[in-house]
Amino acid sequence: MRALLLPALLVLGATPGTAKAPAPPRLLSQTGLYAAPGVVAARNLAYAPQYPLWTDGAAKARWIHLPAAIDGRDEAGWVFPVGTKAWKEFAFGGRKVETRLLWKTGPATWVFATYAWNEAQTEAVLVPEGGQPDAAEVAPGLRHTIPSRSDCRDCHGREKVEVLGFTALQLSPDRDAGALHAEPLRPGMVTLKELAARGLLRGARPDLASRPPRIEAPPAARTALGYLMSNCATCHRGDRPIPGLDLDLRPAHALRTALGPGSFPVPGQPESRLLSPGHPERSALLHRMASRGAIAQMPPLGSVRVDQAAVEHIRRWIAGMAPLPSH
Ligand code: HEC
Ligand code: HEC
Repeated sequence: MRALLLPALLVLGATPGTAKAPAPPRLLSQTGLYAAPGVVAARNLAYAPQYPLWTDGAAKARWIHLPAAIDGRDEAGWVFPVGTKAWKEFAFGGRKVETRLLWKTGPATWVFATYAWNEAQTEAVLVPEGGQPDAAEVAPGLRHTIPSRSDCRDCHGREKVEVLGFTALQLSPDRDAGALHAEPLRPGMVTLKELAARGLLRGARPDLASRPPRIEAPPAARTALGYLMSNCATCHRGDRPIPGLDLDLRPAHALRTALGPGSFPVPGQPESRLLSPGHPERSALLHRMASRGAIAQMPPLGSVRVDQAAVEHIRRWIAGMAPLPSH
């Protein structure tokens, strides 16, 4: 009985869009990232998004391989060529811990993989589907968990997979000087200008590089909205809503949708809202960012430490807003 049932269950349980995807290689060195041990191949372009995801203070390095030009006609939804690979390396305390891979293997198929680095820091090995707890210490007593493939898709998408840090806004040369935890642009890193110059971006508006995208808002709001975009809007977005929630933390929607009461009141704050202008202490958004471990934690996965710099920034931003007339 069991032998008959099992294959059927496996098929039912398969994630949509992954059925025909090839398996990722077993070793990071087989993915095309390096030309020789420790030497990144010249065809892989280094870049740094202006609004990074915060992962317990991990130092991150990123590369992308584009076998052909990106179709940039939709500025907010670039279409990557089949064969695109993007890598993101995570290091804690100067030691490499994991390198994540996104690989476009067909017009609508992406392979997700992550590789855990060995003690000697010479090679990284494919992590099983379910992820790996206890991969490194990020603070005394707190350990980094390598996410599962399903976790990857919570943020990068299931049916429609998205590259999150290699977008027109993330690569804009009009960078937000206040952006939290942003790595500096180093020589050789690509931005919109180099992409266009190398012929790797087709169909974009002609003035994209001279009038690059930016979040139009006063400085503190611009930085806050950029942070919420990368760290929260991967899940909180109106085009892929979480059932029962109205919160949309993409820059153009955050301030409107965050004014609602929400379903998670801040303990001890009867006038709690998702975001209460002028009142950080009544704002569930801030309360949940500043929580870890308990059910209140936001984001619910991907970090075990509170992002203090972000909490302080968002607190000041909310405190500086004019309170609503009724509050
Ligand atoms: C909590 C949300 C979240 C989870 C979980 C997550 N990612 Fe990401 N990932 C992001 C964001 C946001 C970026 C872009 C910002 C950055 O690079 O810091 C990103 C960037 C990347 C990149 C660089 C290309 C890109 O999309 O910008 C790769 C590769 C990647 N992730 C792979 C993975 C894999 C594989 C997993 C699962 C093992 C995973 N990610 C889990 C949010 C997430
Ligand atoms: C990996 C997906 C994911 C990410 C990333 C994420 N959230 Fe959430 N969030 C959820 C889910 C799922 C819920 C609903 C369940 C719950 O309330 O715990 C939720 C609920 C919330 C709520 C309550 C909404 C309501 O209507 O009551 C707030 C506020 C919130 N998140 C804020 C944030 C903030 C701020 C960030 C970024 C710092 C963030 N979230 C990042 C998945 C995510």
